Amino acid sequence: MTISATQKIPSYSEIPEHIAVIMDGNGRWAKQKHLPRVFGHKKGLDALENLVRCCFDAQVKYLTVFAFSTENWRRPLEEVNFLMELFLSALQKKVTLLYKNNICLRVIGDRNRFSKSICEHIQKAETLTQNNTAMTLTIAADYGGKWDILQAVNKLLAAGKTEITESDLAANLMLSDIPDPDLYIRTGGEKRISNFMLWQMAYAEFYFTDILWPDFGREEFDNALNSFKKRERRYGRTSEQLPIEQQRP
Ligand code: IPE
Ligand code: IPE
Ligand code: MG
Repeated sequence: MTISATQKIPSYSEIPEHIAVIMDGNGRWAKQKHLPRVFGHKKGLDALENLVRCCFDAQVKYLTVFAFSTENWRRPLEEVNFLMELFLSALQKKVTLLYKNNICLRVIGDRNRFSKSICEHIQKAETLTQNNTAMTLTIAADYGGKWDILQAVNKLLAAGKTEITESDLAANLMLSDIPDPDLYIRTGGEKRISNFMLWQMAYAEFYFTDILWPDFGREEFDNALNSFKKRERRYGRTSEQLPIEQQRP
């Protein structure tokens, strides 16, 4: 992974600091090719590797991807098992590359249902890469937005809180130490949030594409960034109130 000299890097304000992605459409991609669904997941991992490279090149600081939701345990056992194997093998094979590229890896979600081996590899990867500074890649696995809010509330209750403020809750969510997503991309044509980061997505710009996740490449990534550049982020204010530099053509 290197930054190509010819790459045009837009000015900082045009680049989302944090991109969150629902990598959807693996099963349909495989089905279209008359292959078992799991082939789509395998190909989806390649697409993720490519996305990390795209974000790295564009100097996106934080990338958070939804790999497995709380609800995905409802899938057929063979598919769940395959996804767990793929997760473990990616942790075994890809972490060195992340480390060498100064990328910090984090995993968010409920770890109670993962195998001991997966938990150990997550721990190892997080420890190895914790001081890396070029970019942070977060994998949401056995993650649900509702789960995230509840675990934050329960932490606050355990600490004796009887009344919770917005900043209390925000400070106890997963990823409380990084900015909320600026851009949320979902592939695969569905226009829903599927229990991803519910609280953190309050002011994210949404970008939906029909492209199935295994086909999501640099061109699609650039389309998403170009769409983001045209958004005017008002946060409740009027256009006229915004500072000049925030107004987009
Ligand atoms: C997303 O692709 C990957 C996971 C949920 C793990 P899907 O497996 O949901 O693919 P489709 O939506 O069935 O095509
Ligand atoms: C969302 O995709 C979760 C992940 C991509 C990991 P799903 O395919 O599970 O979402 P639904 O079920 O169509 O809403
Ligand atoms: Mg899906």
